[in-house]
Amino acid sequence: MILFVTVISVLFLKVTTADDLPSYFPKCHIDDPDSCLLRGFQILKPHVSNGIEEIGLPPLNPLRVPKLKVSQTGPLARYQFLLENFTITGLDDYHIQEFRYNPHTMTFYGRIVYDTMSMTSNMDALGQVISVPIEGKGSVEVTLIGPINGEFEINGNLRNENGVNYYNTTNIKVNLYIYDGSCRLDDFFNNNIYLTRMITNIFNENSKLVVDVLTPAFKEMAKYGIRNLMTELTNRIPYNLLFPRRNY
Ligand SMILES: *[C@@H]1O[C@H](CO)[C@@H](O)[C@H](O)[C@H]1NC(C)=O
Ligand SMILES: *[C@@H]1O[C@H](CO)[C@@H](O)[C@H](O)[C@H]1NC(C)=O
Repeated sequence: MILFVTVISVLFLKVTTADDLPSYFPKCHIDDPDSCLLRGFQILKPHVSNGIEEIGLPPLNPLRVPKLKVSQTGPLARYQFLLENFTITGLDDYHIQEFRYNPHTMTFYGRIVYDTMSMTSNMDALGQVISVPIEGKGSVEVTLIGPINGEFEINGNLRNENGVNYYNTTNIKVNLYIYDGSCRLDDFFNNNIYLTRMITNIFNENSKLVVDVLTPAFKEMAKYGIRNLMTELTNRIPYNLLFPRRNY
């Protein structure tokens, strides 16, 4: 299966070089980062919906992506979607089940669960999903029904810039399981209401299959989001500030 997700405009626009972290930002020592990081996610939770400018985190509730191109080529999905004003709500309502950092391999590992998540977007579509065509310009509303289980692993190394070390993300792996979903389509097929409604019904009657077939696309989007987040975070916070050493 070939899958392609491109964010046409940059996801995170603000480029501040703040070396002043917010006071609530977790200070996790390199020698025992795990429980601290897990706690850190709980501490950050009330702050993420409006974003945390100092670490380059955009507002997560909702998260808006101006333009996004998603395409997939496979037996059950063959499409090209141009999404505009793509808006996700619920990203801030996470349950982190596990979050670890191994300083020797420089690997982050985490498991995260969501109960539900919803997305709206304008969409220019061409192609088919589960052999059902979808064409034209319209709007789409998608609700992902949990449990939504995400698992990720981030590998990296150190990048030195002007004598300062920064974490440098080299690879991201994501596993994603989505229990179910539902959708609402409007205005597709040159505003053919009946055809659009019929197609919407077929998708909703086969919701588990549709979600299954589209999961690789959501996975790519998650990967893209994580990569951006890591880049923003690690480009502005030197490694020894991210994981300070204890002062004995
Ligand atoms: C973008 O989407 C949001 C939420 O659905 C909506 O309130 C806003 O009007 C949209 N903006 C444009 C330019 O379509
Ligand atoms: C940083 O990671 C990228 C891959 O994401 C890699 O191409 C690059 O060589 C790395 N930089 C350093 C200094 O290792």
